[in-house]
Amino acid sequence: MTYNPVSEKDLDFFRSTLGSDFVLVDEESRQRYGRDETENLLFPPEVVLKPATTAEVQSILKHCQAQHIPVTPRGAGTGLSGGALPHRGGVSLSLERFNKILDIDERNLQVTVEPGVITEVLQNAVKEKGLFYPPDPSSRGSCFIGGNIAENSGGPKAVKYGVVKDYVLNLEVVLASGELMWTGSNVLKNSTGYNLTQLMVGSEGTLGIVTKIVLKLIPFPRYDLLMLVPFRNLEQAGEAVSAIFRAGFVPSALELMEINALRIVSELVPDAIVPLTEDTAAHLIIEVDGNNLDVLMQEMESIGTLLTQYDIGEIYFADDAQQKAALWKLRRRVAEAVKLVGYTIEEDTVVPRAELPALIRGVKALGVEHGFEVVCYGHAGDGNLHIRIRYPGVPNSYGHEGVKTILRELFRLVHVLGGTISGEHGIGLIQKDFMDIVFSSVNLGLMRSVKQAFDPHHILNPGKILPGTE
Ligand code: LAC
Ligand code: ZN
Repeated sequence: MTYNPVSEKDLDFFRSTLGSDFVLVDEESRQRYGRDETENLLFPPEVVLKPATTAEVQSILKHCQAQHIPVTPRGAGTGLSGGALPHRGGVSLSLERFNKILDIDERNLQVTVEPGVITEVLQNAVKEKGLFYPPDPSSRGSCFIGGNIAENSGGPKAVKYGVVKDYVLNLEVVLASGELMWTGSNVLKNSTGYNLTQLMVGSEGTLGIVTKIVLKLIPFPRYDLLMLVPFRNLEQAGEAVSAIFRAGFVPSALELMEINALRIVSELVPDAIVPLTEDTAAHLIIEVDGNNLDVLMQEMESIGTLLTQYDIGEIYFADDAQQKAALWKLRRRVAEAVKLVGYTIEEDTVVPRAELPALIRGVKALGVEHGFEVVCYGHAGDGNLHIRIRYPGVPNSYGHEGVKTILRELFRLVHVLGGTISGEHGIGLIQKDFMDIVFSSVNLGLMRSVKQAFDPHHILNPGKILPGTE
């Protein structure tokens, strides 16, 4: 697919539509909007546009479809699969000025919000009313709710409360043509026709641009308890995860951190201290929440007793809000910390929970065989393991055939174990070449038809998700 470059005439149109302050072509802006958090890739757009209204987004898309200019929507740029990278040039369409919480409906436990609101800001605003929006990616202090919808994000709470898709009721979407639609209704049940709302969730800006979001909320649980359990054996930590569920517990977070991850992040965040012992291979972070503190304390005790069948060290209980915050701070900053010390290649594998030990074994064996270092951490309760790779002399998986061959082996293992490539980071630019491992040509053909129906001129985030697209 070839596209037209952004011309002076196009820029004039954008300036007259948005005002010249919101049409950026300077080098610094193009560099900034040419990156996200994925590996260390840079693809500067030709122009950055910052609309503030749905009507402006409509005008931009109508114009770009007519002029055949690619448009890459962008939230906060915290993505990990390159979804917001404008690798075909054209327009980077930033939703950062869509930053209003429009309505918190306390009668119906719903919130209507614009896509450029920071996820944690939204969570805090509804919490003030006693309400809870649980999906909490590690980047929640900086990522946008719109980006979370584009990637169907998860986070630690997903194990009990579900991921973004479980909270999205209705979306206002601008289509590639510039037409506007609402995908559904603000209701908790809906069997009315094809589910366009869920089709938009996780579509990574390839089908339309979301300009308003209606989310379901739940009452905020009153208490939570948190503990850190050291394991002397990494695979055993993986085994313990499914044992906890089989014994009837549903933790509100069940995270795994290999010891390397905790060591590296502890250096980056020295103010957040937790005990580290020499013979520990990995930790499980276990949280329970609810409204009855006695029940939660009993649950924590029973989980602790259950885990004594494994080779564990002394359990650390985060006693107060400060200790809990410190532990979560360490967990949330792992991705950033390990990237800084050279683990730049990140995978977001997910397998059925009980297959976690087999996945851990497999990835470690691959590392030994192919000479790379690996650090594992992530949402073990969901079987969602983030695998960070430090490959000598290779900072990117993108375009590196040697690393891609190894990743194919990893994803084949994931597939054999009944899992898939991405649990919460999306496919974007860097995972699309692996889609054939988990989908047949029938699946991929249908996905292409969906794309064709929504975006017949292929202007919306081209070259993402679908293999074989540039
Ligand atoms: C995390 C992000 C990287 O779990 O998904 O920290
Ligand atoms: Zn994660």
